[in-house]
Amino acid sequence: MAVLEIRKYPDPALRRKSRPVPEITPEIRELIDDMIETMYAAPGVGLAAPQVGIPLRLAVIDVSTKDEKSPLLVLVNPEIISTEGELNEEEGCLSVKDFQSVVTRFARVRVRAIDRDGKPYEAEGEGLLARAFQHEIDHLNGVLFIDRISPLKRNLFKRRVRKNLKEDKAAI
Ligand code: NI
Repeated sequence: MAVLEIRKYPDPALRRKSRPVPEITPEIRELIDDMIETMYAAPGVGLAAPQVGIPLRLAVIDVSTKDEKSPLLVLVNPEIISTEGELNEEEGCLSVKDFQSVVTRFARVRVRAIDRDGKPYEAEGEGLLARAFQHEIDHLNGVLFIDRISPLKRNLFKRRVRKNLKEDKAAI
């Protein structure tokens, strides 16, 4: 297993629409295991394949906290099949450095996916898990949480990125 490099905004890999995983091969299992290790090392509660530069519909999620255990979920070709309610909460992303913002998401979602063994399953999530399902599936479509915030907040973020890029250049 290996910790992979996590691509950061504005890396174009984050903007591609990912292809479905055609089949669970040993290579796909290895990628899944590397993604799990990368997510835990970050640490983060979810990671999608485009974030490690692989345009495949594949994500891993574990929203466990110190006090509350949650299962590790492997989502191959995930789809949202039903949604309910609405929730506004602060959100961040391993690919978006030092920036969080309130994002409106469905409060409860049901997803259908394939697991690491190639078995189809359905899972339901609310709160943080529902948010993680929506956030990771967005990644598979080239969508980042900054696309779902107010234009004012987004401009603030973009100005900051431009400033940081300039500073990086000046340091060379
Ligand atoms: Ni993310």
